[in-house]
Amino acid sequence: MQVTPVAGALGAEISGVDLRDPGFDFAGVYQALLDHEVIFFREANLTEAEHLALGERFGTPSIFPVARLMGATEPTMTVIADGPHSANAADAWHTDVTWTATPPKCALLHMELAPERGGDTLWCSATAAFDALSEPMQQFLSGLTAVHDNEGFIEGVMKKAGDAAESLAEGLRRDYPPVQHPLIRTHPETGKKAILYAGRFLKHIEGLTDAESTSVLQLIDDHVKEPRFHCRWRWTNGDLAIWDERSTLHRAAADHFPQERIIRRLEIDGDRPY
Ligand SMILES: [Fe+2]
Repeated sequence: MQVTPVAGALGAEISGVDLRDPGFDFAGVYQALLDHEVIFFREANLTEAEHLALGERFGTPSIFPVARLMGATEPTMTVIADGPHSANAADAWHTDVTWTATPPKCALLHMELAPERGGDTLWCSATAAFDALSEPMQQFLSGLTAVHDNEGFIEGVMKKAGDAAESLAEGLRRDYPPVQHPLIRTHPETGKKAILYAGRFLKHIEGLTDAESTSVLQLIDDHVKEPRFHCRWRWTNGDLAIWDERSTLHRAAADHFPQERIIRRLEIDGDRPY
């Protein structure tokens, strides 16, 4: 197994591993995920069943909240298609589904149809971003609690879900009310501190005035945008990315329109951040 870093802060490409062989070095792959925060397999070419089976090695595959509301009782793949008629919903830095009490542990993203040009995904190391803050700022942020909600997500659902949109929005508000998370979380396995930033899911910081909360969130937003904390993956069909949701942010680069881009994503259940 070869592990080749793709950038200074995070990300590594893994080669020499057949993920479809049940005897592959899972411990080695998992350690690479913890060490590099996002790992890439060029042309893994997994079927949906293989994708799911691989996900099960990492934990319990998630039933996505929208699918759960629609009656799903089995883990669900989310297929995200962006093209001339659909806006890219992931075109800003975020961590997935932080508006639940127990956001995902990690995610496995498989490229179904890569655009010929553009459509990269970027990841940001939330641990490197934390480490780069001054010590007084680290201490200040470490004492703060943030409120996350799903209004920004519901906005996207309303655009895509057609007739079902109203009842889905109602169900999402009922089943997933706003939730509090520490602004700085501790990774349960590595012990590293990470900024739990989630873009539009993060509404305000408890105990601060509105002006203070807005300024602090803007400071974090500017900070995580610095390229020194990032890596970027240029997709080809069948590529697989696995990232640790507890130590990274990610975003799409919506620069492939009007070409189509189709991905298949599986989330793995996580624990309550602390
Ligand atoms: Fe995402």
